Amino acid sequence: MISYLRIACCFSFLPFLSPANSSFTPLSQTSSHPFLGQKCISSEKTTLLQLKRDLSTAKPESSHHPSSGSLLTSWKPNTDCCSWEGVTCHEVTTHVIGLSGHNLSGLVNSINFLNLPYLKRLNLVNCNLGEIPSFVEKLGGLVELDLSNNKIHGNVPKWVWLLESLVSLNLSTNFLKGFEVPPSAPFSSSLSFLDLSSNLIEGSIPTLPISISFLSLAKNKLNGEIPVSFCSMSNLTILDTCYNYLTGQIPKCLEVLGDTLIVLNLRKNRFFGLMPWNFTKDCSLETLNLYGNQLTGKIPKSLTHCKRLQVLDLGDNQINDTFPFWLGMLPNLHVLILHSNSLHGPIGEPLTSNDFPMLQILDLSSNYFTGNLPLGYIAIWKSMRIKLKGSPMYMGSYYYR
Ligand SMILES: *[C@@H]1O[C@H](CO)[C@@H](O)[C@H](O)[C@H]1NC(C)=O
Ligand SMILES: *[C@@H]1O[C@H](CO)[C@@H](O)[C@H](O)[C@H]1NC(C)=O
Ligand SMILES: *[C@@H]1O[C@H](CO)[C@@H](O)[C@H](O)[C@H]1NC(C)=O
Ligand SMILES: *[C@@H]1O[C@H](CO)[C@@H](O)[C@H](O)[C@H]1NC(C)=O
Ligand SMILES: *[C@@H]1O[C@H](CO)[C@@H](O)[C@H](O)[C@H]1NC(C)=O
Repeated sequence: MISYLRIACCFSFLPFLSPANSSFTPLSQTSSHPFLGQKCISSEKTTLLQLKRDLSTAKPESSHHPSSGSLLTSWKPNTDCCSWEGVTCHEVTTHVIGLSGHNLSGLVNSINFLNLPYLKRLNLVNCNLGEIPSFVEKLGGLVELDLSNNKIHGNVPKWVWLLESLVSLNLSTNFLKGFEVPPSAPFSSSLSFLDLSSNLIEGSIPTLPISISFLSLAKNKLNGEIPVSFCSMSNLTILDTCYNYLTGQIPKCLEVLGDTLIVLNLRKNRFFGLMPWNFTKDCSLETLNLYGNQLTGKIPKSLTHCKRLQVLDLGDNQINDTFPFWLGMLPNLHVLILHSNSLHGPIGEPLTSNDFPMLQILDLSSNYFTGNLPLGYIAIWKSMRIKLKGSPMYMGSYYYR
């Protein structure tokens, strides 16, 4: 039952939330417009050629950076720098507004990015950076900063909360340990995407800008409770704090946020207490993953308001209830994991022949269900895989991925 559970955990790819939805588009799609007859600004070209020189002479720590060479081969002095790979220019002013490099090495402090004053997007992914380059703080127009997958140590600097134009910040997969000073309101940035997943961040979650709509703190070492300030994040659509040591009760306000939340992933933390949630009729949740906590009580009936729900994972908690047959009315439920709880009583028979119409994965194992195999359900579920009392049973051949 392990492999498919990943779908509900630690989202790393969310197409509907890619920066394409905001005011800018991914670099790869706009990298050059030769048909517009662009000509890059010569001082900016000089700076980029300087960068190329520095990178070419830099000795990569290892030889696993084959692509920097291929990226830079298009950077030829006698060509328009707006046509170079990884470079984006403004369509009208032709200023360099985006720079995107993967696997570049030797970059830190090698270039004066202040000579690229119109830079809006800086994506230096997997570039072996050991720290956040200090010049970034001075790039006042920066909208998107992606320094994920580097070796950045230390703390999230306080100035990231003050960059007024910054919308998207990705520091995922580094070695960050915490926050330079606890950020505090008012924030001048209108940050919307914040990905700090897969770091070593300890301590409690600080107050964060309420403008955030995507927040991943997954796979860190955070403890303490979810701050009540989260209740003010009225545009929050994705909240992922899986694999941390968070504790306390899950804030009740999240039920109201359920109107905007699409993904709530609190998998593998230490939350306890009841799930007294009263989801409203406008509940927009598609994934609710509470696996591996210490939640007690019953499964909230108001989940029937969450008509878009596709994944409900309540496994490995202490929920004491009977089989939630009423979830059968959810039209889009694909995955229902109730594994390892204190569910008891007979599973019973379906109310209609259209109960759980989309269900593909059901795990009821390690509970206290009694009675016969639910033949009535098995007869109406055409293509799925279920697990009851520890013994897997496969029906059809479809595996959810
Ligand atoms: C952040 O970067 C990681 C690693 O490069 C990537 O997998 C993830 O999708 C990015 N997050 C967002 C919100 O784009
Ligand atoms: C960067 O290098 C990694 C291997 O270290 C490789 O898998 C990846 O495709 C490279 N990325 C690019 C954009 O070349
Ligand atoms: C939520 O988004 C709307 C529309 O983009 C914006 O006007 C509003 O200020 C945002 N709310 C917060 C709390 O940032
Ligand atoms: C849930 O909310 C509805 C109205 O939105 C209210 O009538 C009902 O009493 C609430 N139930 C609980 C258990 O809070
Ligand atoms: C579940 O709740 C019932 C009362 O509703 C109680 O008798 C029973 O002991 C509980 N089961 C567990 C495993 O806590």
